[in-house]
Amino acid sequence: MNFDNPPNRNNTFSFKWEKYKGKDILPVWVADTEFAVAKPISDTLKQRVDNAALGYTLPAQHSDASEAIKHWCLQQYNWQIDTKWIVWTPGVVPAFNMACKAFCEPGDAVIVQTPNYPPLLAAPEINQLEKVAVPTIMQNGRWIIDFEALETAAAREECKLFIMCNPMNPVGSVLSKQELDRIVDICNKHSVMLCSDEIHCDLILENKKHIPAGSVARIADNSITLMAASKTFNVAGLGTSFAIIPDAKVRANFVKAGMGIVPWANVLGLEATKVAFTQCDDWYKAQLDYLRKNRDYLVEAINNIDGLSAATPDATFLLWVDASGLGVENTQKWCEEKGVGPSPGIDFGNKHFFRINYGSSLSFLQDVVARLSK
Ligand SMILES: Cc1ncc(COP(=O)(O)O)c(C=O)c1O
Repeated sequence: MNFDNPPNRNNTFSFKWEKYKGKDILPVWVADTEFAVAKPISDTLKQRVDNAALGYTLPAQHSDASEAIKHWCLQQYNWQIDTKWIVWTPGVVPAFNMACKAFCEPGDAVIVQTPNYPPLLAAPEINQLEKVAVPTIMQNGRWIIDFEALETAAAREECKLFIMCNPMNPVGSVLSKQELDRIVDICNKHSVMLCSDEIHCDLILENKKHIPAGSVARIADNSITLMAASKTFNVAGLGTSFAIIPDAKVRANFVKAGMGIVPWANVLGLEATKVAFTQCDDWYKAQLDYLRKNRDYLVEAINNIDGLSAATPDATFLLWVDASGLGVENTQKWCEEKGVGPSPGIDFGNKHFFRINYGSSLSFLQDVVARLSK
């Protein structure tokens, strides 16, 4: 558990590090952290590899991994799930694309909030569906979905599905009970299926509670909750996530949409999820403390740089930075010329912003800030 000294990822074919290979640009884009995984995870993976048992493993039969999810949902959210509700998927991105296929027909539309994670924004078009964008607005120093725009969108006959992102990427807000209730009411009123991408839900840095969509009784039978150990425990490269779908018919339709196309989650990912959710609580809490300090440091530093500003995110290790005050046309170029490589805001839907990943050592982050301040 040494967050100050993460492993060197140069020459490991890390997606994040390959982009600026050989250039003096610090990569702070892709949403994985720099941290080494918790020891129980690496020990378990080593053991599995040493056993050389890497043949087919049907995720639904890996009862230990499914029980681990059940345990985690109860511990984290006081959500009592049945392991039958779990559908393993090889990523959250395939899962929300499966939802588009399962619950929409040609001519239908999908609601998405903007700005948002680029593959989520792309999902409607990939599935030949119309994208209906609902903006995010700033209210009392906090980013929140524009509820009126959501209501208008949901009222459209063609809108059959809302792919929500909670906690929100890139803005980092966590929906309160009241806000989630409002969304649930809108979806129910207009018969819109709620597919909730909650991949960042275990990275809450404020004294706030994440509420899984499927745990709200009024929408449970019209909901798909997408989660993973991947972001929180830094195992995204293992391509393993899961959907929690209480209603049997909705579940069957979702599964059918992936048949013959979407592969099973892989065995190392199942093992990692099992251990992450049952044996890594100390590491998890220490990481939250570390991330909270990084966040507070970064938010203050960014707000001290002329032309930049950022609101404090409730969750995630991502900071959405407003660079409109710089008055430059290309904010990404501005950052890269200073030796910093964030995620381009334009990919998320706003070219005046960029997104910094602060899931790194504090000293690395200080280097990022020093470069941006120059
Ligand atoms: C909101 C959100 N959903 C999904 C993903 C990716 O999910 P996966 O790698 O499981 O497909 C990311 C990764 O950054 C994300 O931020």
